[in-house]
Amino acid sequence: MKKMIAALFFGAMSMSAVAAGNVANGEALAKKYNCAACHGADYNKPIDPSYPKLAGQHADYLKQALVAYKRGAGPHGRNNPIMTGQVQPLSNADMADIAAYLHSLPSGLVLKR
Ligand code: HEC
Repeated sequence: MKKMIAALFFGAMSMSAVAAGNVANGEALAKKYNCAACHGADYNKPIDPSYPKLAGQHADYLKQALVAYKRGAGPHGRNNPIMTGQVQPLSNADMADIAAYLHSLPSGLVLKR
């Protein structure tokens, strides 16, 4: 029984390591696809006020948004002519890595309490 609990525990740990994403790989991917061309310097200064700031945003939220763009129109999807094109080359692991990288950046967003 003890062994089984340990196996479950370590299994869950390695799964969460995958879900958390690889920051260094995410940085390389964001550079490769030039996401900053629109989302701006440090992902904090988008080139247009209608474009979202990504730095410091929750990783699970960002990953979910990217997956939704890839799904496109329909249930659980996001239909946006710009972002739909951006996410096409990205795998699920790529999206998790990019989300982890963006989350790791200092945010210019303010929490009002
Ligand atoms: C040509 C400009 C452009 C490029 C390049 C671009 N984006 Fe976007 N991105 C946008 C716009 C515009 C939106 C808002 C779309 C909407 O209203 O749904 C957006 C939205 C997003 C969102 C959703 C944020 C939120 O809070 O809902 C994420 C995440 C995102 N982009 C990540 C990326 C990543 C990662 C890349 C590179 C692979 C990238 N973007 C490249 C213009 C761009």
